[in-house]
Parts: sequence; C-alpha cells; structure tokens
Amino acid sequence: MKGAASPSRGRSRGKGALRPIRWRSGALWLLEQRLLPLREKWVRTDSLEKVAKAIEDMTVRGAPAIGITAAYGVALAGKRSRAKTAPVFQREMEKAIARLRRTRPTAVNLFWALDRMQKTLDRVRQAPLAAQKKSLESEALQIHREDEALCEKLGRWGALALKGKKNILTHCNTGALATGGAGTALAAITALGRQNPRLHVWVDETRPYLQGARLTAYEIAHAGIDFHLITDNMAAALMAQGKVDAVIVGADRIVVNGDTANKIGTYGLAVLAHQHRIPFYVSAPSTTLDLTKKTGREIVIEERGSREVTHPQGVAITRGDYPVFNPAFDVTPGRLITGIILEGGLVGPPYAKNLPRAVGRRLRP
Ligand code: MRU
Repeated sequence: MKGAASPSRGRSRGKGALRPIRWRSGALWLLEQRLLPLREKWVRTDSLEKVAKAIEDMTVRGAPAIGITAAYGVALAGKRSRAKTAPVFQREMEKAIARLRRTRPTAVNLFWALDRMQKTLDRVRQAPLAAQKKSLESEALQIHREDEALCEKLGRWGALALKGKKNILTHCNTGALATGGAGTALAAITALGRQNPRLHVWVDETRPYLQGARLTAYEIAHAGIDFHLITDNMAAALMAQGKVDAVIVGADRIVVNGDTANKIGTYGLAVLAHQHRIPFYVSAPSTTLDLTKKTGREIVIEERGSREVTHPQGVAITRGDYPVFNPAFDVTPGRLITGIILEGGLVGPPYAKNLPRAVGRRLRP
C-alpha cells in the first residue's frame, strides 16, 4: 500500500470534523490509524486487495468503519473489473464480497454492509455493466452517509442518558475514527461535553492495541474535552474512590439477550461498574445488532497475532518467542449493562424482549 500526503479535500484536524474515510475520484483514502497520534498519513487504497488488507492490518478499525470500508471495497472491485458480461461481473463481485467477509470475524457491521452490497448487486443484475458499477458506488456512499446520521442520533441519546454525570470512563476507541460520523460512545461524550464544559473523561489505554491511548486521546483532545489517560488496571481504584460516575463503551456485536462483544477488557469494566453500582452503558447503531444470535456464546471472538502483545507499536517489551494469547474482544453479559443506546433511543433490560421491539422504532432525541 502506497503512502500519500492527503486526499484532495478536507482536513483531519483543526476545527473541521475528523473524517478518516474518504471516497475521492474513485479511490478510497484512509487515515492510517496505526500511526496515530504521532503521525498523520493518508493511504490511497485503490483495489479490493488493498482494502481487505487495510481492514486486516487495522489501518482502519472500529465496527461501523470496517463495514463502510468494506462496502467501498466492493465498489472499487466493481470499478476495476474488466468483465465484459454480466455473469462474469457478478461472479467477480461475489468473490470480492467473500474476500472481504474473511477479513475480521467479530464486528457484525462488516457482514451487514456486505449483505447490503450483495442485495444491491442482486437488484441490478439485469442492468448494463456501467449501471451496475454505479449502483455499487452509490450504495457504498449511502452506507457511509447513513452511518454519519446514526452517529448524530447516538450522540444526542447518549448525552441524555449521561446527563448530569461529570466523570465518565470509556474504553477502546468509538469516535470518528471508528465510524462514519461522530462516533458511538464518544459521540455521547462529545455531545455532553458541549453541554458541560467541566466534563472529564477517564480514557482507558486499552491494551494490547492501545486504541484508547492512541486514538481516543487524540479524538478527545481534538474535541477540547478534559481527560486523563489511564492504564486499564486503574479503573477499579478510581471507581472505589468515587471518581467514576458512569461508564460508556461501544460494541462490535450485540445479540438478543443484550450480551455484547466489544474490545477486550470491556467485560472486566462491566463487572467493576456493577460492583461499585456505577451505570454501564453501551452505545451502538442498530447495524451492530445481531438478532440471529440468542446469547454471546454464539459470537466468534477474533484472535490476533502475538506481536501486538509482545511488541506494542513495534517496540519489544518482552521476548518475541514467548507464547501469547490475544483475543481481541470479550463478551459482556446483558445483565451487567444498564442500558443500550441505539439511534432510536435508550433500551433497558430485559433485552430479549426490548431489543427486538426497539428495532425500527423511530423516536427523536
Ligand atoms: O479491534 P478494533 O479496534 O476494531 O475494536 C474496536 C472496538 O472494539 C470498538 O469499541 C467498537 O468497534 C465500537 S466502535 C464504534
């Protein structure tokens, strides 16, 4: 993947909104998240394989963001196709979708977005090839725009749920870098920050990949909100000292009973919050719901390579040949979750009854 200075329009810092996924002149530009916050570099991804690799190697990450990126990957595969007939084109696109499905297993948004691209393909099957390609591009752009609107609503509902709270703890990265808009949990925090200039956030560093230290700190600093970075093992002490009023996190997959897969370490935080009677919220768009699964036991948890643990950011902190276990996510039982913030509003337990009901509900925050 070739590095490049920046896409032709927009900024990633300053007063403008942070928009790390950009579709410009038929190519996808991604803000290289592995280098943040120390370096801002844009990468131009102009083929299906480059997009798939960017998801696998975490150039782009975060549940909604990888769904959006994968949709653009299908659009790119369409644009680059040299197929002369519709059946050949359809086969190529199905292969492209299958390739992208293999990139990361846990976040359901990836599969949701690819299912939408497949449906688009099915719908335009009879159209001329140029029209099919155009439809794939339009659908990817639409998925991106929709996520931006979902984030907006999540921010407003989240700020309502957190109203009056001064010290919020969050884990992993759930802002613009992880979505197509202002974020999920982080959108709530930034919306609340606009109402309460004294808001303070505890940012978990989020071992082993350091999404909190690298990305959330970058985003919260960008939003001008007061924060302290902490290592993951400090949360218990802060809670015991009464220094945390609420916890809010995002999600990679939420199933019928409210069990929620999110970044490794989330479950531990939920147990701690329960112990200290601190509200624990999950914020996610309905594209993160997987109502085909009844409990979290059915969720596939991605295991990543050992070097993320032994060599964070490429720096050896131990021997590279030690055996390592590196699950990227854990599952927080629904019973530990105070409320799930969806774009349609706050959903409380019992989730098995309330989540399916909430889908499709249209309230205005
Ligand atoms: O492995 P990552 O960085 O893709 O994991 C991201 C998370 O776990 C986020 O908390 C989750 O996607 C919610 S974000 C909107």
